[in-house]
Amino acid sequence: MSETYAGRAAALDAADELAKYRELFTLDDTVYLDGNSLGALPRHVPARLQEVLTREWGELRIRSWEESGWWTAPERIGDRIAPLVGAGPGQIVVGDSTSVNVFKAVVAASRLAAQGRDEILVDATTFPTDGYIAGSAARLTGHRIVPVAPADVPAALGPRTAVVLLNHVDYRTGRLHDLPALTAAVRAAGGLAVWDLCHSAGALPVGLDEHGVDLAVGCTYKYLNGGPGSPAYLYVAERHQAAFDSPLPGWTSHADPFAMTPGYAPAEGSVRGRVGTPDILSMLALEASLDVWDGVEVTAVRAKSLALTDFFLECVAAYVPPGRVTSVTPAAHAERGSQVALRCEDTERVMRALVERGVVGDLRRPDVLRFGITPLYVGFADAERAARILADVLEG
Ligand SMILES: Cc1ncc(COP(=O)(O)O)c(C=O)c1O
Repeated sequence: MSETYAGRAAALDAADELAKYRELFTLDDTVYLDGNSLGALPRHVPARLQEVLTREWGELRIRSWEESGWWTAPERIGDRIAPLVGAGPGQIVVGDSTSVNVFKAVVAASRLAAQGRDEILVDATTFPTDGYIAGSAARLTGHRIVPVAPADVPAALGPRTAVVLLNHVDYRTGRLHDLPALTAAVRAAGGLAVWDLCHSAGALPVGLDEHGVDLAVGCTYKYLNGGPGSPAYLYVAERHQAAFDSPLPGWTSHADPFAMTPGYAPAEGSVRGRVGTPDILSMLALEASLDVWDGVEVTAVRAKSLALTDFFLECVAAYVPPGRVTSVTPAAHAERGSQVALRCEDTERVMRALVERGVVGDLRRPDVLRFGITPLYVGFADAERAARILADVLEG
């Protein structure tokens, strides 16, 4: 049986137009299915970082803020990310962690919301940081948190809805939520839709402008391969920028930061989302890593991601003894992100054994094995091998 699937994998890899992008990454014999936590290193990034260290910091020193473009990196790199999430230029700024950007987005959205609206709806199954931070934002702004499953959002909307904070793809199950329909429903009810794109940017089309999203945040160290702890980003739709009132109005978001005036006057545009001195080394590693996207269509990435997740699920069903794993990732393409999550007993032992045998995924306690599918460097043979080794581990 494994010959059949291995043969199909070889044919699919041979026909894959994205296969050539794998060469752009530093990889080894490991089947790396954890790019939904930490993306792989693009090969050219170390040399670029070396240049930043040696030339820009080592020789030019302070001059690099201007001469090497350090000062404008947050908005410049935001514009590099923009096409990957369907945003026009001037609406995304890079900096800080996702958690900090969730804070900026939720507080600013609640300030943008109409008077009298006092509820912040939060995805009840959200990645924990979003819930913690929305809770704190609510305490600060006098709003009330309403936890609600994404599917129940339309029914929970009403005249008190100020902000709705949702995840595009659920980090645990890999479920893709309906961003266009949910955004439309939130806006029709008079609220603002804030999306967390951590698990969708770089994996599937997002369409921020097309679908009228109000604000969004996301990280860059997963599918965007920016490196460990690389800075996150904040999207503020152009129509909200003039009224965007940041809860962290640091000096680098000032209209004239070097005037050093005691009074705050916000800069125009995405710069308004900045806070303090940008983390240049991480930021420039991210900027370099974004080069791998040159010439890549996100729709092609999405098509390969769906084909790979289908194929992996098929191999798992064929190889793994019945009843040992259950997929919690939706079968319907319209509801699937770019990971496969399998419910399984004894996940810690199973994942340790997988890693020892060269298949790197991760787990979410208590019972979910996660396998991230990053179409730029994962192939069909990888998916087949991962399923075969998983079956071996579970049989053993
Ligand atoms: C969906 C989601 N939101 C937020 C975060 C937190 O990001 P950060 O650690 O950059 O604050 C993560 C991290 O994995 C995440 O997956």
